[in-house]
Amino acid sequence: MRTFSLKSYLLLLIITVATLCLMFTSLWVLYQTDKQTQQQTQQALNSAAKQLHVQRIRVQTNFDRAENFPNLALWQEAENYSGLCLRFIGVEATVEQSVCRGGGMTESWPAWFELLYRKLFHPDKALEQPISHAGQYYGTLMALPSDDVALNNAWQDIRKLMGLAVLTTISLSVMLYFAIGYLLAPSRVIIHDLQKMKTNEFSSRMPDFFITEWQYMGQEINQLAADLQTNLAERKALALKLVGIQEQERKFLARELHDEFGQSLAGLSAVASLITQLAEKDYPLLASQGEKITEITTHMMDLLRGMLIRLRPSDFDELGLVDSLKVLITGWNTQNSGKTHYQLEVIGDFSDLNDTLPVNLFRMVQECLTNIAKHSRASKALVMLQRINVPAVGKWREHIVLNIEDDGIASDLTFIKRPGIGLLGLQERVEALGGMLQFNALSPSGLAIHIDIPLQNTREESSE
Ligand SMILES: Nc1ncnc2c1ncn2[C@@H]1O[C@H](COP(=O)(O)OP(=O)(O)OP(=O)(O)O)[C@@H](O)[C@H]1O
Ligand SMILES: [Mg+2]
Repeated sequence: MRTFSLKSYLLLLIITVATLCLMFTSLWVLYQTDKQTQQQTQQALNSAAKQLHVQRIRVQTNFDRAENFPNLALWQEAENYSGLCLRFIGVEATVEQSVCRGGGMTESWPAWFELLYRKLFHPDKALEQPISHAGQYYGTLMALPSDDVALNNAWQDIRKLMGLAVLTTISLSVMLYFAIGYLLAPSRVIIHDLQKMKTNEFSSRMPDFFITEWQYMGQEINQLAADLQTNLAERKALALKLVGIQEQERKFLARELHDEFGQSLAGLSAVASLITQLAEKDYPLLASQGEKITEITTHMMDLLRGMLIRLRPSDFDELGLVDSLKVLITGWNTQNSGKTHYQLEVIGDFSDLNDTLPVNLFRMVQECLTNIAKHSRASKALVMLQRINVPAVGKWREHIVLNIEDDGIASDLTFIKRPGIGLLGLQERVEALGGMLQFNALSPSGLAIHIDIPLQNTREESSE
């Protein structure tokens, strides 16, 4: 959907409302101007008619001569109406006298304005009044307003109004533009904080805003961030605990298998060897069966050893992470009989890591290498473990970066959409340690897995 910024939307709204108001006010002003013109015409007509009455009385009372009637010049001299003509039409419908005041405008106005004004009003509408005295009709007096004067008056009024309105709208818009920008500034802070929250960063809090609505919103977002921060911390702690329990379980299983099953197999192997030895002379058939039992027992012991290594690398606790990884890599190189060449690179010291982190890192490498052996058909695989310092706000933060790359058949990352238990477990471990996991398809083919674990996080989490 197309969106507008609130600032432009409000400005557009103000300009539209101002234009509509201006249009209605203009119409109102034009209407008033027209009404005024008509009133003036009517007043002029009335006053001239009055004068003609007086003139008739003067003629009747012999104060004046009959041929002096009508005399509109008197009206022309006495009154100060402008843009108006008076016409006296006698009994025989002939114009007996016509006088004008004002008119002859030199100013001009736009053609559209004249067209509009003439459409809406009638600036040249004439008014008339019959003149009679003592029951006798003498003629009709007509008042003809000058349309030029009416148009000019209306145009002057509109020009003033438009100038004022445009000035008001522009200054109002400029003021509002800055005022709205200032008032909406908190929204940028809020959006910035919400974007941070999207990346699981819940530590920052909104400042206080002086506008109540923003203040409420800020408080609610702060509360939400605090709740999410607690939830995330709890989830991480739980995931870490689960991973820890899983490791404990595996350790226990490995010990039981080693101590119970391993010992029994060793016993069985010893008995089988004894049977073989004893039966070699007298019961050669039995001796060969004894040898078979020894073979099967040896095979089972090999399987058990492999299983024990997967459950808990035999001397992980004694060897530590780096040496255990070396053993793992050597194991894969021998198992694969050269099909894939596995290589390990370690940069930095890993001896002081707490006890959950090394075993988790080991498990992650173990799963990735198993996947390479199972799915990639790669000729080379590289495991790179680094401990690096990354600049954080005002300080350095230690990170463990694990890169595992192969040049196998992976050409895209579609498999991530339907991960198996292995990749899910990998993801869970990384999340539990507060880290980040990334898959990249290599060119021309192959897979690169990038794991980044901030060390401080892991320490905080595991110390809870
Ligand atoms: N290095 C790799 N090269 C090519 N494909 C891979 C690679 N690693 C994983 N995949 C693909 O990702 C899929 C999911 O891997 P995942 O480890 O989750 O499951 P899995 O190995 O099939 O079974 P398991 O749950 O026992 O590990 C694999 O089936 C495989 O198609
Ligand atoms: Mg797997």
